[in-house]
Amino acid sequence: MYKIAVLPGDGTGPEVITEGLKVLKAVSKAAGFKYETKLYDFGGDRYIKTGEVLPDSAIEEFKKMDAIYLGAVGHPDVKPGILEQGILLKIRFSLLQYVNLRPVKLYPGVWTPLKDKTPQDIDFVVVRENTEGLYVGKGSFQDKFSPREIAIQESVNTRKGVERCIRYAFEYTQKRNKDKKLTLCGKTNVLTFAWDLWKRTFYEVAKDYPDISTDYAHVDATCMWMIKNPEWFDVIVTDNMFGDIITDLGAMIQGGMGIAAGGNINPQGVSMFEPIGGSAPKYTGKSVINPLAAICAAQMMLEQLGEKKAADLVEKAVVKVTTENLKSLSAGKMGYSTSEVGDLVVKYLA
Ligand code: IPM
Ligand code: MN
Repeated sequence: MYKIAVLPGDGTGPEVITEGLKVLKAVSKAAGFKYETKLYDFGGDRYIKTGEVLPDSAIEEFKKMDAIYLGAVGHPDVKPGILEQGILLKIRFSLLQYVNLRPVKLYPGVWTPLKDKTPQDIDFVVVRENTEGLYVGKGSFQDKFSPREIAIQESVNTRKGVERCIRYAFEYTQKRNKDKKLTLCGKTNVLTFAWDLWKRTFYEVAKDYPDISTDYAHVDATCMWMIKNPEWFDVIVTDNMFGDIITDLGAMIQGGMGIAAGGNINPQGVSMFEPIGGSAPKYTGKSVINPLAAICAAQMMLEQLGEKKAADLVEKAVVKVTTENLKSLSAGKMGYSTSEVGDLVVKYLA
């Protein structure tokens, strides 16, 4: 019996999570596993009403779960940063979800802006470090509000944090067993402290994985290759900030935010799965947003839980929807409502 914490969150989060849960229910019957959910209403509305963002007691409850399923955080009436840091980053950091795993996979039938590229060409995974770097919130102002003002934002990279992420990436590349190639994406030519540590660690750890071929690309060049030759990539490992940026680019080449999913992974603990797009406030309540990203996040959750059969069933059903039904993955252009897309996935599971 799996225990799953469900945090629909803000904006269109609840709409897409509803579809994800619909699919989870159907696939649990088809694949024969049991689970229970516990719903948490953390997000902008609750914060506005009560002033509470995410109490430590909730973190303690999450630690006893098998997984967390998150919709989106971000509310137009809440100052940027409060919910993102207070909910999303707080969960990632306090549950030591030190890897953000983001597959960039073009499914059959899905339009990509890259001319002449096919599902065979666009199929790689980004392993983004998820608890360090520029995201630690360290820094300072000097002479704030004066013409001499200086804002310092520090990137913290620990040997331990970098090494566990890189090790995960090597293990993942081995398990994935595709091209057995791991690319380190960094900026060794300018960020000479952080990327010196990353590069040294990368090549040291690489010695333990002689069957994995290694490569290095600067982050700017990585963006170029992702557009020009995405087929060169198998697995990419990078830091928190670069990983954030290149995975939005990745989402675009795989067909958009409507399909992009990710997992915040603690390999020894509780992981959290989410569609990587935001709360899309302007589409809230219109039932036009694509739930496939949330459904693919549920698929990743099933894989992490060890429910391989269920995960495969969901992926196959999603591919059927992209090949046979959807006109587009974009909000309002699918030819179906949010809940109809969920229904189609459920239908194809049977
Ligand atoms: C993501 C998001 C978050 C991040 C924001 C909402 C804090 O963009 O999951 O990629 O920057 O990590
Ligand atoms: Mn992002």
